Order: sequence, then C-alpha cells, then structure tokens
Amino acid sequence: MIGLIQKILLELVEREGGAKALADVTRRAGLADVPDFRIDTDYPDDECLRLIEATQAVFGLDEEALYRLYADAFIVESRRLFPMFYRMSPTARDFLERQPRVHDTLASSLRNEASRERVRDKFAIRREGEDLVVTYGSPNRLCGLYEALFDRLLQEYGEAGELSVRTCQKRGDPVCTFCLRTETAID
Ligand code: HEM
Repeated sequence: MIGLIQKILLELVEREGGAKALADVTRRAGLADVPDFRIDTDYPDDECLRLIEATQAVFGLDEEALYRLYADAFIVESRRLFPMFYRMSPTARDFLERQPRVHDTLASSLRNEASRERVRDKFAIRREGEDLVVTYGSPNRLCGLYEALFDRLLQEYGEAGELSVRTCQKRGDPVCTFCLRTETAID
C-alpha cells in the first residue's frame, strides 16, 4: 500500500490521541518503531491493515466510525497535497470518474512495475445511463473505506448522492460493484 494511506492514518492517531496512542497503535500492529511513511513508496498491505485494526482497538471504534474519521482527514490532506486533482474536477461526479486515474498517477511514481500494476488493477469505472458503476477488487477489502470517502467527497463538493452496493467481496463476491449517483447533471 502506498504510504500516503498509512501516513494520514498515523497523523490522525497522533492528533486524536497524542504520542501515547501513536505508540500503542504501532506496538499493537507489531511494529518496533513509529514508521516515517513516505507518500511515494509502497509498503506491505498486511502492515497497513494491522495499523487500521490497531487504531480501531486503541480508540474503541468500529470500522464504520474509523473510516468516517479517516475519510475526513484524508479528503482534507489529499486536497492540501494534491489541489490539482480537485481543481480538475468541478463536480463530485467528475472526481469519482477520475479516481482510478488519480490512483494510477500516484502509482506511476513507484519504481516496481508489479506494484504499479497492483494499484492499477484495483479500480475500474464506467458510465451506465446516469449512474457511474465502479468495480473494486482488492485483497484488502476496503470497500467500507470507499463508501466513507464517497460520502465525504460529496460533502466536500456540497452535493448529495447515493451509493448502492451491487456485489461485495465481504459477501463472497469476486469483486465489489458500487452504483453511484450524484445530483450533478450528466454531461
Ligand atoms: C486526491 C484524492 C486521492 C488520492 C491522492 C488517493 C490516493 C490513494 C493511494 C495512494 C492509495 C493506495 C493505493 C495502493 O497502494 O494500492 C489509495 C487507496 C485507496 N483509495 Fe484513494 N485517493 C484519492 C481519492 C479517493 C477517493 C475519492 C476514493 C473513493 C471514493 C478512494 C478510494 C480508495 C480506496 C478504497 C483505497 C484502498 C485500495 C486498496 O488497497 O484496496 N480514493 N488512494
């Protein structure tokens, strides 16, 4: 997982719980030190998933509550770090349509071709009438995070919208499929 995800998580942990929470989360995730995650470097997925689980445990949050907090921190920080991606997208729908390409752009800084492909293969998006249909397939099964980011992105754009789940890896489907609808008029 590209370190941007873990970096924003650990910043959130420190902001909400201070140095003690940061030490507790990293220890619980099995890490000897607090890593200095780089936003352009790939790290093991299982380490990232352990950090997410440890954060839930230390703060006593269920998955949905953590993802809600995380999505808020993520949208604020990603907008600060990558304002261009937001500027290029006048509406939430434009952003959502561009999201797989945003990920590919971030992955293109990785040196290892296998890592670049791994990121590229996770998301696909297509138009289906007025809807956007997203396919998300990843062993990390972070579909809850997708939903939280979708909600927070709509809020960022001051728009309303709806996500319905057609298939889900957590229910045993091979991939997750989300049907997205936003209030923005279709071009
Ligand atoms: C400027 C905005 C964004 C940036 C810079 C960004 C960047 C990233 C990066 C670098 C990763 C790690 C990729 C990997 O190592 O595989 C990631 C993961 C992810 N992103 Fe984004 N992202 C953005 C917006 C969004 C939005 C709006 C959504 C959903 C609506 C989203 C959903 C996800 C999900 C679900 C993952 C986890 C993928 C997995 O490992 O299974 N992202 N993002």
